[in-house]
Amino acid sequence: MADRAIEPPQLEPEQELENQEEEEQLDPEVAARRAAALAQLRTFGDPVLRTRARAVDRFDDALRSEIAHMAELMNDALGVGLAATQLGVLNRVLVYRVQQEAPVVALINPELEWSGKESETAEEGCLSLPKVLVEVDRPVHVRVRARDEQGEQIVVEASGLEARVIQHEIDHLDGVLILDRTTRDQRKEAMRALREAQQAA
Ligand code: NI
Repeated sequence: MADRAIEPPQLEPEQELENQEEEEQLDPEVAARRAAALAQLRTFGDPVLRTRARAVDRFDDALRSEIAHMAELMNDALGVGLAATQLGVLNRVLVYRVQQEAPVVALINPELEWSGKESETAEEGCLSLPKVLVEVDRPVHVRVRARDEQGEQIVVEASGLEARVIQHEIDHLDGVLILDRTTRDQRKEAMRALREAQQAA
């Protein structure tokens, strides 16, 4: 899986991501924090995940505290990206961090301005779709125009995992899930896994 190769060693690559298989090996305190964070996220079946989020027009302290909260949940959940939609907040806000030592990046009102012709297929997971991993083909290089948390215009040029995570999170803001971006067979299998996970819960 391509993401694995580019992902730094400490953060597992299941993109938004989380690494479900290794849950039992986590330090108990880390595992408890992760479970508490995941419990705050909307999961498959919640109609909010299918709803298009609204553009943000107020760059105020409320927005900045929402972003800080998202960054904390993403870290606790051991994810590399999170969209406000996943908290049931329909604002066009996403956060990500693809390298453990890097600062969290927040993109507000992100617009995919350009994507390269080259694409790559890699496995993706999603914090809102427990136990699901599907292959998703996405452009390798993108350029995104957005606002930062002060409302300043920014342009991000990203490749590889960073480009993948940004596209995954913009999809959330449009009500699109990885299930919509994979093959029919993988979607069927994912739906089965989701049903099983929901029955076990
Ligand atoms: Ni996701």
